[in-house]
Amino acid sequence: MKKKKSKKMKKGKKTKKPKRPKKMKKPKKIKRMKKLTRAKKIKKTKKRTAAMPVVRAEKHFGRLIQAQLKRVVAMKKAADWIDYKTLKPIIIGVIGGDGIGPHITAEAQRVLEHLLKDEVAKGKVKFRTIEGLTIERRSEIMKPVPPDVLAEVKKCHILLKGPTTTPKKGDPWPNIESANVAIRKELDLFANVRPVRVPSQGLDWMFFRENTEGSYALGPFGVEVTGDLAMDFTVATKQGCERIIRLAFDYAKKNNINRVTAVTKANVVKTTDGLFLKTFYEVAKEYPDIEADDWFIDIMTAKLVDLKRRTQFRVMVLPNLYGDILTDEAAEFQGGVGTAGSANIGKRYAMFEAIHGSAPRMVKEGRTQYADPSSVIRAGAMLLNHIGYQELGKKLEMALDICGQYEKKLVMTGRSTGATGRAFCDYILETIADPNLEKRWQGYQ
Ligand code: IPM
Ligand code: MG
Repeated sequence: MKKKKSKKMKKGKKTKKPKRPKKMKKPKKIKRMKKLTRAKKIKKTKKRTAAMPVVRAEKHFGRLIQAQLKRVVAMKKAADWIDYKTLKPIIIGVIGGDGIGPHITAEAQRVLEHLLKDEVAKGKVKFRTIEGLTIERRSEIMKPVPPDVLAEVKKCHILLKGPTTTPKKGDPWPNIESANVAIRKELDLFANVRPVRVPSQGLDWMFFRENTEGSYALGPFGVEVTGDLAMDFTVATKQGCERIIRLAFDYAKKNNINRVTAVTKANVVKTTDGLFLKTFYEVAKEYPDIEADDWFIDIMTAKLVDLKRRTQFRVMVLPNLYGDILTDEAAEFQGGVGTAGSANIGKRYAMFEAIHGSAPRMVKEGRTQYADPSSVIRAGAMLLNHIGYQELGKKLEMALDICGQYEKKLVMTGRSTGATGRAFCDYILETIADPNLEKRWQGYQ
């Protein structure tokens, strides 16, 4: 052993010095050091405690990124569009929702069942009622969509959905995620298609709102880093932007519309809106006959009330939140959100719904029967068009225009001063039955 040691020393290699019995020799310094070490430890613990929320937030952010990357992989692999012609039966699931939802959705179902009665008799179309998507049930199990409801939903091809209450902090309900948003994401219904038409004012708009990304993608998954710092996340993916933008251009091309407008705030929200806008102009190159331009959401909101400008817009494509806001504004020119339908389209599933909420106040005040079913019936017309019954869809749209905008033999006010939803639906059914329906409608164009 000794020999080895001396060899090593000769080579200049360091050897460990034998430990000094510190405690015995320098007690004062040691005491001070111990004190220092304790202070250091406390400082370190304090530092670690302060860093904990950051570490937690970082971990959380990491998980969100992983989930979004998985989405990208799924989008890349997504199957092609479902072909309704090959399906027998096409299963239409009807979800009443809550608040005024079950009431107005029942009226819409009545109209669809009437229009599709031959198809139902032939076994080509089947209606299925899906219960349980109520705020009471969702609150009870603390889930935006109860698993049994989701399982039923997934057995259908198409959904007609009534409004569902979306809670916010301070409501009597727990602040769970919106059922609409959860279903849109779960079924990958990436396109929210919302038409607004007011022929008398020269308005003919089609909005393509991105439906699974933007600030909605991680709505319930923001972080309260500390009591002073809260952060939400906005998501844009190349694939997500591309598929909605392409749908807008395809629609324009198919309908001989020569302009598509993107709406973003890419001058401020540079990364995600930036990707949306960049993708927009890339896709636009594939449609050289269509003029592509873009506007920022603030000025676009103003331009929709500019009488000279607004008639020039035709097809608009925009990220989720801007689409939510702008389509409510647009619907107002047509008679309010109660009159506009909304289609949530994906490659495998599609869901058609009213663009308004569940109006719990109407229920509370005993006015449910006066709720306007027009929005969800208009969604029904979009449903018919989507599954290949364009002639029936057109009939229903013309009847809705006549009853709600032109002739207005019955008017709905939301209270006993106006018609009930049932009476209004009867009016629509009578109008559909008119053999001169098209002539009557043309007269108003
Ligand atoms: C809509 C609605 C929903 C949305 C709500 C109910 C979550 O406002 O369909 O526009 O914000 O998308
Ligand atoms: Mg909305």
